[in-house]
Formats: sequence, structure tokens, C-alpha cells
Amino acid sequence: MTSRNYDIKDPSLAEAGKQRIEWAYREMPVVKLIKERFAAEKPFKGIRISGCLHITTETANLALALQAGGADVTLCASNPLSTQDDVAAALVDYGIPTNAIKGEDETTYYKHINTALDNKPHLTVDDGADLVSTIHTKRSELIADVIGGAEETTTGVIRLRSMYKAGQLKYPMIAVNDAETKHFFDNRYGTGQSTIDGITRATNILWAGKKVVVCGYGWTGRGVTMRARGLGAHVIVVEVEPVRALEAVMDGYQVMPLLEAAEVGDIFITVTGDKNVIDKAHFQVMKNGTILANSGHFNAEINIPALEGMAGKKRTIRDFVEEYTLKDGRCLFLLGEGRLINLAAAEGHPASVMDMSFADQALCAEYMVKNKGKLEIKVHPVPEEIDKEVARLKLKAMGVAIDSLTAEQQKYLASWEEGT
Ligand SMILES: NC(=O)c1ccc[n+]([C@@H]2O[C@H](COP(=O)([O-])OP(=O)(O)OC[C@H]3O[C@@H](n4cnc5c(N)ncnc54)[C@H](O)[C@@H]3O)[C@@H](O)[C@H]2O)c1
Repeated sequence: MTSRNYDIKDPSLAEAGKQRIEWAYREMPVVKLIKERFAAEKPFKGIRISGCLHITTETANLALALQAGGADVTLCASNPLSTQDDVAAALVDYGIPTNAIKGEDETTYYKHINTALDNKPHLTVDDGADLVSTIHTKRSELIADVIGGAEETTTGVIRLRSMYKAGQLKYPMIAVNDAETKHFFDNRYGTGQSTIDGITRATNILWAGKKVVVCGYGWTGRGVTMRARGLGAHVIVVEVEPVRALEAVMDGYQVMPLLEAAEVGDIFITVTGDKNVIDKAHFQVMKNGTILANSGHFNAEINIPALEGMAGKKRTIRDFVEEYTLKDGRCLFLLGEGRLINLAAAEGHPASVMDMSFADQALCAEYMVKNKGKLEIKVHPVPEEIDKEVARLKLKAMGVAIDSLTAEQQKYLASWEEGT
């Protein structure tokens, strides 16, 4: 047991958590390889790492890999509803102080972030930039010790770029989300599958024949639409970017403004990273029985205060399902308090996809330590060697071999003189 501060729901859940962490590890061969190398080389000797991440089995395996490399790791939740309490208990048992309780209120959430920062991190690992923004706004005395930080998700990267633009960023960051081996797979296949999983677990609906409206056709939106269609739903896409909207049209989806879609949709899923995407005007025309879910980072995509204002009555009808009865008698169902439904009502992304995201995280952490003091204060991309290495290791683990260029082809592809 660790002696530093931690706050979890129930230490007796540790054994159950350990078994599930072990189960996920079977699907994380790339993290396993990295962990074995870290254990031998100890790249994080003397390094303190604070991570604000969804406390899941996959995150546990990342934390254990960093710990094997000699790091002193502290964790807190990156969302009040995404913590798996058995995993939090197991982590504490493994000597990783964890501050996370599923369903914690906002005060506890920020208290947990501050406790994770009390460890005076050399590296920060964020999913949504809450550690970075807390350090910059309230704990600036910690900045001097920080070597760098890594960011896991689209919304966090957007926040960091805004900080940089405003001249507020005070230490170097790596946008792990932007690695190809991250967002091509995690955001698309991970969010695609786990969002459908979360909504299914919360509601047990049949997808076949339903009209599903997906707001946002970015990396996550592509995944969610693909999987909803695979289950037989009629998918409507709502976008604001013309190229993305065009892509959705050519991918075979109906595209229309949300106000039109609001009248016909059975299930609405937001994955935009934006605010008040589904708003009062939309609630006003939705059908009785409409289901509302969000899988974007913050619970700001569905205007819940507006919904509360329109409702005459509210009750929890099932776990993660809130029934809002509007004054005109229609019922709208909000899932998981509008928080990312794949983590609130299910287990988040499958381990196999987090294997790549967290391999990127682990290798970027090592990269930052190796380049201590040399990285410019800005938002860096993941180094291409790391991205390629993760893809290479994943393919190898999957038993997939690929071709390589011949010397003649390399020369041809690098030349401009040779034509028909
Ligand atoms: N649930 C999860 O586990 C999970 C995983 C990865 C990313 N995310 C989060 O999901 C969100 C989306 O991520 P992404 O990688 O798909 O981002 P993205 O930038 O690739 O896509 C977002 C899309 O939403 C569109 N959009 C913005 N405002 C809109 C509006 N008002 N109406 C309709 N469309 C709008 C944008 O034009 C863009 O095409 C982010 O908040 C990200 O952090 C969640």
C-alpha cells in the first residue's frame, strides 16, 4: 500500500480490479513490450508523473508501465463519471496513489486534481487538459519543476493550442491525440464501438431501424456513424464544416441541419467537442421518447440547463437514464448526465485500441525526459519515429507482415525526372 494521499471508493475492490487489469493487459501487447523495456532500462528513475486520465483498466496498464520504468506515478480522474472503482482500488494496492471515485461531485473532482498535483510532477499526462490548466491558473509554483506534458484528447489539444496562442503556455506539451496511431484508431474505432456499447448498456435499445443523428463527422463521428449503420440504423449526420459534411454525404449518410434532424431522430449522439450543439430549439421539436447521448469530452454539448428549464418533471428511470418530462407531456431521455457515454455507462475503449494510444503516451513521456530542457515551449506533434514504431509493433503483435520499398522504388519515389 502506498503512503501518499489517495481517495478511492472501496479498497476491498482491489482484487476484482487487478483481474480486470490483467484481462486488459492481454490485449495490450505493445504496452507490454514497452513496459518490459522500461523495466530493464528505468528511463523514469527519479521522475514524478501526475496523470489525469479516465481511471480504467487500460490506464492502469499505462501507469504500471511507467512505474516499471522507475516513475513515481499519481493519478486522478479526468471525468467525474468515468472511474472504475475496482481499478482505482487495485492501483492504490500497486503503489499508485489514485484519487478518483465514480460519481464524484465537482468539488471532489477538483480536489482530486489538486492532490495529484501535490506530487509536484516532472511530467503531466492529461485527458482534457485539466492538470495543465490547474497548474497554470492555480498552482503556478509547480511549473518550474515540470519537464513537459502530454495530452490525450482532441478537446485538450484545442485548449492547449488556445493557451499557446494567448501566450499563456509555460511548458512544452506533446499532442498525443494527433498521432496517427492515436486518432485514426482510438477516436474512430474506439469511440465508435464503445459509444454504441455505452448507449446499448444504458438503454438496451435495438439499433436496427432507428433514426440515429450523429452531430460531428470528425474522427469520433466517423466511427460512431459506421458502427450505428452496421447495426442497421438509418444514420443522419449533422456538420458545420463543408468538407466533412461532403465526406459524410459521399460515405452514404443523410446530411441535414440539426433543426430538421431534430424532428425525425430517435437517438442523438454528439461528438463535436463544441458547446450547446443540441439546444432549446431542438428539444422543442423532438419526438416523444427521444434519446440524447454525448460522447464528446465535456458535458457541454447538450444544453442540459435548457433541458432542465423546459422540464416539468425529472426522474431516473434506469441507471444512466434520466427521463425529462416536458411541460407539453413529451419525454426526452438524457443518458449519463450528458457525460461521455462510453465511459459513463460502459468501460470506455477496448484495450486493443488503447494499446496504441498508451504506447504513444509511454514513448512520448520517455522522449520528454530524454529531451529535458531542449523542447521549445509549444504544442509539439508526436515525433514521427514514435508514431511509426507504435504502428510497426502493433502490426507485429497482430501477426501482420507488410512489404517494404525496393531500392529502385525508393529512388523512383524520391525523383522528379522520371515519368511515363
Ligand atoms: N468518448 C471518448 O472516449 C472520446 C475519444 C476521443 C475523443 N473524444 C472527444 O470527442 C470530441 C470530438 O473529437 P474528434 O476527434 O472527433 O474531433 P474532430 O475535430 O475530428 O471532429 C469534431 C467535428 O465536429 C464538428 N462540429 C463542431 N461544432 C459542431 C456543431 N455545432 N454541429 C455539428 N458539428 C460540429 C467539427 O466540424 C468537426 O468535424 C472531442 O471533445 C474529443 O475530445 C471522446
